[in-house]
Amino acid sequence: MMIYSRNRRLRVSAAIRSLVQETVLSTNDLVMPVFVMEGQNKQEAIASMPGIFRRTLDLTVQECRELYSLGVKGVNLYMKVSENLKDNTGKESWNDSGLMQDTIKAIKDAVPGMVVMPDVALDPYSIYGHDGIITNGKVDNDATNEALTKMAVSHAKAGADIVAPSDMMDGRVAAIRTGLEESGFTDVGILSYSAKYASSFYGPFRSALDSAPVDSQEIPQDKKTYQMDFHNSREAIDEVLKDVAEGADIIMIKPGMPYLDIVAKVRETIDLPIAVYNVSGEYAMLKAAAQNGWLDNDKAVIESLTCIKRAGADMIFTYAAKEAAILLNG
Ligand code: PBG
Repeated sequence: MMIYSRNRRLRVSAAIRSLVQETVLSTNDLVMPVFVMEGQNKQEAIASMPGIFRRTLDLTVQECRELYSLGVKGVNLYMKVSENLKDNTGKESWNDSGLMQDTIKAIKDAVPGMVVMPDVALDPYSIYGHDGIITNGKVDNDATNEALTKMAVSHAKAGADIVAPSDMMDGRVAAIRTGLEESGFTDVGILSYSAKYASSFYGPFRSALDSAPVDSQEIPQDKKTYQMDFHNSREAIDEVLKDVAEGADIIMIKPGMPYLDIVAKVRETIDLPIAVYNVSGEYAMLKAAAQNGWLDNDKAVIESLTCIKRAGADMIFTYAAKEAAILLNG
């Protein structure tokens, strides 16, 4: 039997393989999540995320300069808020001179080209560690939307390019869009976490920000009444289409690697840009294996990010953004 069609012909040399490559990862695809804390000239390592730190504002700005010079043009901001600033309303989140607002201003001043994307969600500001205001023991959707809108407008005033609501309340994209338009921030975009699943892969992030739901009979002990059920995929399409209709500019799917079927499905359904969040638990798994010598760190980083792009991501939020940029720059 003659074999006329041989797939291996196009794998004969590195040069041929490079000619037929469909997906190529570049620094243009990378967004770095950044953890910020109060104080000066301090950084704290996050134990479950080797290589990742909480930094004070001054060191965060320095880090942003470095990221930008490596070609990473987007940062996603998270604040670690001290306990005395937390309450059930999350009002510190729309304090125009809060840590987030100061951070946005400082980064835009020092690195004007950096696309600054603050996280919009109440959990770091909530005494309960939930993404919403608690009313009668439940996460109160509509009251939360009002708070998120004030927060997003305050971020826009500080100079945010794109606000990134990660809370999963219903109708919050429309509420935030209306708030931004009414305040004149017509050019500030919304990157909506549309299909965000209730996932065990967020553990290291919650310890980084001390933002896990607190242990109390009075509140839900998980986020399953607002984040999606991982058994479902059709529901993701419904969530995404609603956010598109409400005026989202970019759609986020989260987590990344175990959810690439969702990414591919959404890619076939919409034409807006898609962001994928390669979350803290995915990063922790890779680092743990690499530290044990069980995986080649650099190869696994580039492969996993390229595969997320192949599934349909236009941009990837990843804690490996900096090391990936260094690798990509050769
Ligand atoms: C909360 C938020 C979470 C993450 C980003 N924003 C955690 C959660 O929903 O509990 C997780 C990111 C990660 O794990 O890397 N609004």
